[in-house]
Amino acid sequence: MIRFDNVGLRYDAGEEILRDLTFEIRKQSFQFLTGPSGAGKTSLLRMLFLALRPTRGSISVLGRDVATLSRRDLPSIRRRIGIVFQDFRLLDHLTTFENVALPLRVRGRSEESYRQDVVDLIEWVGLGARMNASPVTMSGGEKQRAAIARALIDQPDILLADEPTGNVDPPMARRLLRLFLELNRTGTAVVIATHDFGLMDQIGARRLMLGEGRLAIHD
Ligand SMILES: Nc1ncnc2c1ncn2[C@@H]1O[C@H](COP(=O)(O)OP(=O)(O)O)[C@@H](O)[C@H]1O
Ligand SMILES: [Mg+2]
Repeated sequence: MIRFDNVGLRYDAGEEILRDLTFEIRKQSFQFLTGPSGAGKTSLLRMLFLALRPTRGSISVLGRDVATLSRRDLPSIRRRIGIVFQDFRLLDHLTTFENVALPLRVRGRSEESYRQDVVDLIEWVGLGARMNASPVTMSGGEKQRAAIARALIDQPDILLADEPTGNVDPPMARRLLRLFLELNRTGTAVVIATHDFGLMDQIGARRLMLGEGRLAIHD
């Protein structure tokens, strides 16, 4: 579904922070992306989300070579990729319902066409009681789940999550992991960037490990 071939990345005139990355994210697969702070996890997720282009090598996403995509092609491909940012990026003046519905509203869909889907998804992540709450009144775990619901509202083929358990206690981390596994069972590929070994040790999933700019894969 996504393929990297000899990808390298540098910011500005600095050294390459990622080198010779060759790997594949397969349909319906589940993997952790790991490595110490500063290893390049967020940068790699941004390349997977087409928010950052590599400085060398090639990336193909859903059969399209990223280098040949025009700005106009991006929205339709990005819609198939859901992303949960480390800082959530929820809008404080909107409720949970409105935040989750936003990607659909922006595309001009009418509220009656998506209302039930949004309600169902918010209930699925366990936020039914917080449907009309503002993010400013919500805990880290609640905001994380709202951000996950927003990333999933368009039924993406792949979900990317950046340190989703970084701001929650261990029981909530386990709950989030169960949510990601359940999502994966329904056919969505999942990539979780984390340096939380307690989380990774709970399941025997594939690990993409970044260190010193390079990638090692443990299947
Ligand atoms: N926008 C940027 N401009 C310049 N350097 C950056 C930028 N974003 C990240 N970096 C650098 O790239 C390296 C990898 O960062 P990042 O991808 O955030 O790693 P991680 O998510 O694993 O902590 C770090 O050395 C960081 O300082
Ligand atoms: Mg990061």
